[in-house]
Amino acid sequence: MSTEKQTEVVNNNSSIIVKVEDLHKAYFLGRTAIPALRGVDLELKRGEFCSIMGPSGCGKTTLLNIIGGIDRPDRGIVQFEGVDLSHLSDNELADLRLEKVSFVFQFYNLLPLLTAEENVEVPMVFRGDSKSAREQRAKELLALVGLKGRENHLPTELSGGEQQRVSISRAMANNPDLMICDEPSGDLDSASAKVVLKLLYDLNKEMGMTILMVTHDRKTAKVCDRILHMLDGKIIQEETTPGIEGSILDDSVEE
Ligand SMILES: Nc1ncnc2c1ncn2[C@@H]1O[C@H](COP(=O)(O)OP(=O)(O)OP(=O)(O)O)[C@@H](O)[C@H]1O
Ligand SMILES: [Mg+2]
Repeated sequence: MSTEKQTEVVNNNSSIIVKVEDLHKAYFLGRTAIPALRGVDLELKRGEFCSIMGPSGCGKTTLLNIIGGIDRPDRGIVQFEGVDLSHLSDNELADLRLEKVSFVFQFYNLLPLLTAEENVEVPMVFRGDSKSAREQRAKELLALVGLKGRENHLPTELSGGEQQRVSISRAMANNPDLMICDEPSGDLDSASAKVVLKLLYDLNKEMGMTILMVTHDRKTAKVCDRILHMLDGKIIQEETTPGIEGSILDDSVEE
C-alpha cells in the first residue's frame, strides 16, 4: 500500500475492521445480469468471530471475495481498516491480500506437489522472507495446528481435516488482521469438522484473530459470536450467540 494509504490506516484506531455499505454486485452471462449482492451493509469488529449463513446462491462467497479484495463491487463501499478499497489499484489490493487478509476455502486449495511445510511457506515466499525464516515459521504454525511430524507430507498423504489445518496454517503465515473462511468444514466429517472449528475458535479467543466465516450448518455458526443471515443478496437478520452452547463444540449436544 502507498504511504498515504498506510497513514490513513495508522490514523484509524477504530475497533471496526470492515465496514460495508450498500454493496451491489451482478455477474453477466452474455447480456443477462445475475444479481449476487443487492444492498449489503455490515460492520465487523476487530477480534470478532462472525458467521454468515444462507441458502446456496444467496451471495455469501461473492461478499467474502469483495471484502477480501479478490473481486470488486458494482456499487457500494467496502472500508478495510478505514481504507476505501475502491481507492486501491489492483496491485494495492494484491498487497492487502498478502499482508492483511487471508482465505481458507472449503476444498483447502493446497498446491498438490508441495509438502505441508512448503504450502505454508507460500505466502512468505511472496513476501520475500528468507528460507530459514520461512521454514522456522512454517514448522511453528504446523505445530500450532497439531501437525508436528507431518511437515513433509504431500496433501494426498493427509486427511481432509489435516489438509484444512495446513491451509489454516498457511492463512496464519502472514499474520493477517482478518481471516476469511468459506465453508471451512463443509467437506469434512463431523469429527474433523469439530477439530477445525475448535482450532478457529482458539485462534479467535486466544490470539484475537478476527474471523469471518461462511457456513451452511447452524451448529457450526453457533461457535461464532454473531450470525448474519443472508437471503437473495441481502443480510436479512442478525443474531448474537450466547457462547458455544448448542454448537458443534458443545459436548452436551448429540451429534
Ligand atoms: N462467476 C460467476 N458468473 C456468473 N454468475 C455467478 C458467478 N459467481 C456466482 N454467480 C452467481 O451469483 C449468485 C451468488 O453466488 P455465490 O457464489 O456468491 O453464492 P453462495 O451464497 O456462496 O452459494 P453457495 O452456498 O452455493 O456457495 C448465484 O446466483 C451464482 O450463480
Ligand atoms: Mg459459496
